[in-house]
Amino acid sequence: MSEWRNIARSDELSEGGAIEIVLEGRIIAVFRSDGALHAIDGMCAHQGGPLAKGVVAHGCVTCPWHGWQYELATGIQCVNRQPLQQTFEVRESDDGCIEVKLEVEA
Ligand code: FES
Repeated sequence: MSEWRNIARSDELSEGGAIEIVLEGRIIAVFRSDGALHAIDGMCAHQGGPLAKGVVAHGCVTCPWHGWQYELATGIQCVNRQPLQQTFEVRESDDGCIEVKLEVEA
């Protein structure tokens, strides 16, 4: 079963920015880039670096620890093309909040 969870007000995440949240014990990085929202596993698949603190360019985030890069839209690692980072659906609600869709136990 999945649920939409309110994680921030829309105005808390400006263009080019990122926030890190904890939902159900998971760290998730939420980005606003080129006008779109993206949510991916916030811990880098290499050694757990904080992807929300990475630099975003051309639709990819670069991990601040050792430079691995991931596509924001897919979680695919840019060099070896492996889908290493889980992605999550993310949207803005009519009442001005950002919501992430998360699988939860029934
Ligand atoms: S922890 Fe992210 S590249 Fe090493």
